[in-house]
Amino acid sequence: MALKLTVIGTGYLGATHAAAMAEMGFEVLGLDIVQEKIDLLSTGRAPMYEPGLDELLAKHVAGIEGSTGRLRFTSSWEEVAEFGDVHFMCLNTPQKHGEYACDMSYVDRAFDLLAPHLTRPALVVGKSTVPVGSADRLAARLAGLAPAGEAVELAWNPEFLREGFAVQDTLHPDRIVVGVRSERAEKLLREVYAVPLAEGTPFVVADYPTAELVKTAANAFLATKISFINAMAEVSEAAGGDVAKLAEALGHDERIGHKFLRAGIGFGGGCLPKDIRAFMARAGELGVDQALTFLREVDSINMRRRGHMVELAREACGGGGFLGVRIAVLGAAFKPDSDDVRDSPALNVAGQIHLQGGQVTVFDPKGMDNARKLFPTLGYAPTALDAVRGADLVLHLTEWREFRELDPAELGEVAGKKHVIDGRNALDAALWRKAGWTYRAMGRPNA
Ligand code: UDX
Repeated sequence: MALKLTVIGTGYLGATHAAAMAEMGFEVLGLDIVQEKIDLLSTGRAPMYEPGLDELLAKHVAGIEGSTGRLRFTSSWEEVAEFGDVHFMCLNTPQKHGEYACDMSYVDRAFDLLAPHLTRPALVVGKSTVPVGSADRLAARLAGLAPAGEAVELAWNPEFLREGFAVQDTLHPDRIVVGVRSERAEKLLREVYAVPLAEGTPFVVADYPTAELVKTAANAFLATKISFINAMAEVSEAAGGDVAKLAEALGHDERIGHKFLRAGIGFGGGCLPKDIRAFMARAGELGVDQALTFLREVDSINMRRRGHMVELAREACGGGGFLGVRIAVLGAAFKPDSDDVRDSPALNVAGQIHLQGGQVTVFDPKGMDNARKLFPTLGYAPTALDAVRGADLVLHLTEWREFRELDPAELGEVAGKKHVIDGRNALDAALWRKAGWTYRAMGRPNA
C-alpha cells in the first residue's frame, strides 16, 4: 500500500513540502497550530508569496473543484499520528532573542505533542535546520514518549530549498541527504523520494550529525561566498577597480563558478544570517569555536554593507544629513520573487535613512504588506514610478526583474533629481546614464 505522509508545520518549508509530496502522488495530511494558516491552506492558498505554490495547492487540496484531493490540513495531533507512516517535521528554528543560538522550542514542542500519539510503526523525519546533535537528542525523546517504542524511528533529512524557487527545488532537488540509523529508514525514504530518485537526483546516506551538518555547512559556505565578493567590493572601491568585472573574471574559473558572486548590500532573510550565528554558537558548545571564528567576519562584512549603502546615499545627497531629503527605495523583500522581509538588507537601509530624518518611500512588487507591518512609519507607494516621483535619490535594493525592466527615461521625467544607487549591481548602468542619471553602484567606479 502507498505510504501516507504528514507534514507538521506549514510555513515556507512545510507548505511547499506538503504540496510537492501530493504532486508526487502521496496522500498528505498537514498540521499547523495556527488555525488561520490551516484555514487559508484548506482553500488552496499559501500563507506567503511563493511562485507556483498556490497553483500546486489548488491542484491537490481536497474540496477544491477539479483537485486530486490528496492534500488535507488539520490541527489534530491524534489525526496525524493515526494517518501517517512518515511524519515530516518542518518547524521553524529562529535565532534566540538576544543570543546567537537557535531556538529549538518549536521543534521540541512538536515532538512532545506528536510522540505520545504514535501507537503504530512510523518514521519521523526532521527537516528543520538544527544545531548538530539535535537528532540524537530528539531520537531519545521519541523513544521515551512514543507508545509504539522501537517501531517509531527518527531520520534527519535537511531541506535546501531557496525562497522564490521553493516549488522547483522541492520537486527537483539537487541532492537528497538523509541521516539514518537503520536500513528500514533508508528504504522508506527511498520510497518517499522515488520520483526525484528516478530523475537521477543524488541520494546521500549519512549518520545524524553529518546530515545535520550538511545543511549548516552549505549555508555557511554560501554566506562566505557572498561576503568574500563583498569584501572584494570594499577593496575595489578603495582601489578604483570594478567588482562586477572582477566577479565575472573569477567565475570563469570552474572551481569558483559564477553563482553567489554578486556584490551589493549583502545577504538577509530567515536563513543565512541566523544559521551562521547558530552554527558559531554550536561550535562554541562543542569546544571548537575557533573553527568557525571566520564566520564572525563573514557576518560583519555582511552587516557593514548596509551601513556603507547609507553612507553612499548620504554622499549622493551632498554629504550632509538626510533631513528633508526625499528618497525612493526600490525593494523591500530580502531577495526577488519573495514577499519575505525578515532581516531584509533593503528595509534595514530604508529604516536607517528614515531614522536619520530622510523621507523614504518604498515600493516592492510583493513585499509591501509584510514591510508595512515591520516598518509602519516608512512611506509606501503603489508603484515604482510613484515611489520615484519627486525623489532626490533612488536606491535600488532588491533585484526584482520589474526594476531591471523600468525605463530610466520615463522615471527621469518624474524624479526630482536623477541620482540612482544600485545596491545590487543589477541595473543596466549604460542605459541609466544615457537617460541622464548619475548611476553609482557598490564596488565599482563612478564613470
Ligand atoms: C538560503 C539557501 O540558499 C538555501 O539553500 C537554504 O535552504 C535557505 O537559505 P534563501 O534564504 O532563500 O536560501 O536565499 P538565497 O538565495 O540563498 O539568498 C540569500 C541572500 O543572499 C539574499 O538576500 C540575496 O539577495 C543575497 N545574495 C545572494 C547576494 O547578496 N549575492 C549573491 O550573489 C547571492
